[in-house]
Amino acid sequence: MPSQTAAGYERFAALEANGVSPLYEEWAASIAKDDAVLGLIDGLPRPKRQPNLVFAAARLVGAPLGKYPQFREWLLEHWPAVEPVIQARMTQTNEAARCAVLLPLLSRIEGPVALIEAGAAAGFCLYPDRYSYRYQHDGGETVLHPDSCPSPVQLTCALTGAEPPKRLPDVVWRAGIDLNPLSVQDPQDMAWLQTLVWPEHRERRNRLSAVAGIAAADPPHLLQGDIVEELPQLVARAPKDATVVVFHSAVLPYLEAEHRQRFVDRVQDLNVTWISNEGEAALPAVKNQLTRSAEGNLVLSLNGKPQAFTGPHGQSYEGLG
Ligand SMILES: C[S@@+](CC[C@H](N)C(=O)[O-])C[C@H]1O[C@@H](n2cnc3c(N)ncnc32)[C@H](O)[C@@H]1O
Repeated sequence: MPSQTAAGYERFAALEANGVSPLYEEWAASIAKDDAVLGLIDGLPRPKRQPNLVFAAARLVGAPLGKYPQFREWLLEHWPAVEPVIQARMTQTNEAARCAVLLPLLSRIEGPVALIEAGAAAGFCLYPDRYSYRYQHDGGETVLHPDSCPSPVQLTCALTGAEPPKRLPDVVWRAGIDLNPLSVQDPQDMAWLQTLVWPEHRERRNRLSAVAGIAAADPPHLLQGDIVEELPQLVARAPKDATVVVFHSAVLPYLEAEHRQRFVDRVQDLNVTWISNEGEAALPAVKNQLTRSAEGNLVLSLNGKPQAFTGPHGQSYEGLG
C-alpha cells in the first residue's frame, strides 16, 4: 500500500500533470515509487509536500529539466539548498488570464469601479482594464483593447452560452489582500512566480513577463493579512462614488471550511458586488444551484449565483444561461 505522500504524487501525475506537463507527470509518477526521495519529502511539514511546490523550488535552485534519473540525482545532491526554498515559499500562481472570465461580468457594471481582490498574490488580476481580449465564439471573434490601443498582454478565451463583453470596465481604484503579497518590484518574487508556471508552458511565462511590465508601471496596493480580517477596512477605503467589486479566484481551497464560511458571511455583510471564481467544491451554496458538474472547470458566480464554468487559467467561459 503506497504511503500518503506516494499516493499524492501518483494522483498528481495521473490527474493534474497528465496531458498538461509530461515532465511533471514523469517526475511525480517516478517519485511515487522512489523511497529515498519520498523519505526527504516526508520530512517536510504536510502542507509543504505537494509536488507543485517541491518541483518549483527545485527548479528555482537550478534543477535540470531532464528525465527523472537526472532530476533524482540532482535533487538528492541539492536537497539542502532546495528544502529552505520549500519552507519559505508557497504556491501562489498568479494568472492574469483569469481576467478574461471576469470581464463578462465586470463589463456590465456602469460607471466607475473600485476593484478589491481577496488572495491577490502579486495582484496581476487587478488590471482587467489594461489587457486586450480576444473572445472566440459562434459568431466569430470579439476583440477588445484598452482605450482602443492594443495591450502588450492579449488574453484569448473561448466563449459559449453568453454574449461577448462589449467594453472594458472603468477601474478607478484597485487594491488586494494576501497573506503573503508578492511584489512586482522584487526580482526574487517575480522569479518565484515564473518558476510556478509549469515547465512546458512557455507562453504563460511570456505572458507573465508582459503582465509584470504593466503592473510595475503602476504597482498595485496590496495589504498583507487574512481576507476575512482585512476586507472591511479596504472596502471602507474605496471611493464612495464607485461600485465596489470584491473578487477572488483560486483562493478558497487554501481556507478550511469554517474559515471559508466566515469569509462568505463577511463579504455578504458588506454592501459590495461579489464575484467568485473557484472550484465547485469551494462554495456548497453555489454548488447546490448547479444542475451538472463543472468537470474540472472553475465556477464563476455573481453575488452567490452561478454564472459560468470557466477554464482554470481563464481559457474558456461557458455561460450557464
Ligand atoms: C493560487 S493564488 C491565486 C492568486 C490570484 N487570485 C489568481 O487568480 O491568479 C492564491 C493566493 O491566495 C492567498 N491566500 C490564501 N489564503 C489566504 C488568506 N486566508 N488570506 C489572504 N490570502 C490568502 C495565497 O497567499 C495566494 O497568494
